[in-house]
Amino acid sequence: MRKSSLFFAAILIMAALMPASAFAKMTNPVDAWNRHFDTWLVVAVVVWLVVTVPMLYFLVKYRRSSRDEDGVYIKGNTGLEILWTAVPTIIIALLGVQSWRVFNTYREVPQDAYEVRVDGFRYGFEMIYPEGIKTINELRVPVGPVKLSLSSRDVIHDFALPGFRIREDMLPGRFTYLWFYADKPGEIRHVYCAELCGPGHSLMQAKLIVMKKEDFNAWVASKKGVEGSASLSQDIRGKELIKQCTGCHSLTGERITGPTFNGLFGRETLLADGTKIAVDEAYIKESIRSPKARIVDGYPPTMPPFNLSDKEVDAIVAYLKEIK
Ligand code: CUA
Repeated sequence: MRKSSLFFAAILIMAALMPASAFAKMTNPVDAWNRHFDTWLVVAVVVWLVVTVPMLYFLVKYRRSSRDEDGVYIKGNTGLEILWTAVPTIIIALLGVQSWRVFNTYREVPQDAYEVRVDGFRYGFEMIYPEGIKTINELRVPVGPVKLSLSSRDVIHDFALPGFRIREDMLPGRFTYLWFYADKPGEIRHVYCAELCGPGHSLMQAKLIVMKKEDFNAWVASKKGVEGSASLSQDIRGKELIKQCTGCHSLTGERITGPTFNGLFGRETLLADGTKIAVDEAYIKESIRSPKARIVDGYPPTMPPFNLSDKEVDAIVAYLKEIK
């Protein structure tokens, strides 16, 4: 009885500590998640010890010593039974309270959050900022709370930012959301697609860069200037825009999901319908806007249409001519 009281004492202490953890203030998803994980880890380890240590001890202590030995007949113990029903019930209820609070921390976005729209596509992420700027596979945010509105242009993707303990599906035709608190400037974290979305899935990654407020505003201003100015050299724009294509089209000649861009312009190409063409501006433009119109022989018709402006398409064509 003395030994079993020791184990119940351990459980009781844990039950007493639980409310502190379950009702503590949760300020952002990282906080909430880390606390949640630590609490469950402690509970799991203590429960495991309470079950396995006595079990091993009793196995040895009460092993059968002769072939015809009978075990002692033990009647129930009401007090113990109440205790081992009530204590776990309380622990589970408190874990439930904590889970509910973690869930709410994830769902309640602070009013002053900076909001960025993120579109998933095969295979990359496009960030659309409230100022009208776009970036590919690079998410820049100011220090503070950030809300991400997620959607997809083709199949189901999943935006995962493990450094901030968040992930959420990106669904075509629907918006989902996430938020995190970017606390340190200069922090670079990796964004992954966490839903198998095709052969280029593992290439679907992005970078998060947290900037000081002033630096971020300066970056926004410089980007806006660049987008608006006609003087920007086309290949710089093309080089930026082409990032949304390189998940499927290599620049090196390597065959991935789609035909390589290396030496694309002017290339003799066999189409799926048996005709032969030389790749020209018209074909490139058509393939960006209605990719399924003329498919290259031997490749799957999986590319989604890209809704780019005439200027953007021109910049891409100029860049493709360049890397010929
Ligand atoms: Cu997108 Cu996996």
